[in-house]
Amino acid sequence: MDLENKTAIVTGMATGIGKGIALRLAADGAAVAGLDIQIEKAQQTASEIVTAGGQAVALKADVTDYAAVKAATDAVVKQFGHVDILVNNAGAYPQTEFKDLEPEAWKWILDLNINGTFNCTHAVINHMVERTYGRIINIASIAAEVGIRRMATYSASKGAIVSFTKALAMEVGPHNITVNSVSPGAILVNNAQSNYENKGIYLPRPGGYPADVAAAVSYLVSEDAAYVTGADLLVDGGRILGPRGS
Ligand SMILES: NC(=O)c1ccc[n+]([C@@H]2O[C@H](COP(=O)([O-])OP(=O)(O)OC[C@H]3O[C@@H](n4cnc5c(N)ncnc54)[C@H](O)[C@@H]3O)[C@@H](O)[C@H]2O)c1
Repeated sequence: MDLENKTAIVTGMATGIGKGIALRLAADGAAVAGLDIQIEKAQQTASEIVTAGGQAVALKADVTDYAAVKAATDAVVKQFGHVDILVNNAGAYPQTEFKDLEPEAWKWILDLNINGTFNCTHAVINHMVERTYGRIINIASIAAEVGIRRMATYSASKGAIVSFTKALAMEVGPHNITVNSVSPGAILVNNAQSNYENKGIYLPRPGGYPADVAAAVSYLVSEDAAYVTGADLLVDGGRILGPRGS
């Protein structure tokens, strides 16, 4: 129980990867607070954690709304006394050719994926600085490294997340706060099925699962990763190593 007496905020814990991360950090001993717009599903995740003997709460907050995020994170500090870990996971990845994308659509993707991360991080950073402790994990994507067709704005947003991670790591490192990103490849969420060859990965598995990403997050927030900051940890089954067949 490496994370006993730690409190973790996880955004987007209602479904998919965020749910996997919330379940894992709770199993590691952390009290978990989830910020999500799908409050009923987020409460379901919290109930699963409590039923398993952990501590969890779900709060309704849109990560693009700074005032809502600040109110929610302040409520978490009030309830648990401190926030030690922030996992910026909430995000979306619609697929459209850039030539067909409307300006409103790319503004929405950038607002959610980039400003959502800025908002949540800014809301807790001074609290972490005051406590001289923090672990911040930003969920990026292999799209930050290689780009993905039909996901140009998404790729740009995740590239921004990786750059933000490195710059912030330099700023807050002296306060004993580490900042790292995790870049998943194809992760099968919400009962998605796949043939691994279609996903271009190099391991004989259908793809990755939320638990694979959660294991990477669990490591990066643990004491074992105390000397790791500004890193981007790929969890992609080798997807970006090179073209298949080479
Ligand atoms: N699934 C993949 O293959 C994959 C690969 C690489 C990166 N990622 C990244 O992982 C993260 C999670 O993806 P997922 O596949 O679990 O997606 P998902 O759609 O299953 O989950 C997204 C979660 O974010 C929440 N959310 C959406 N908008 C929100 C908002 N404005 N405020 C608060 N919460 C909001 C949703 O309610 C949901 O709980 C995203 O950042 C995504 O870009 C996913």
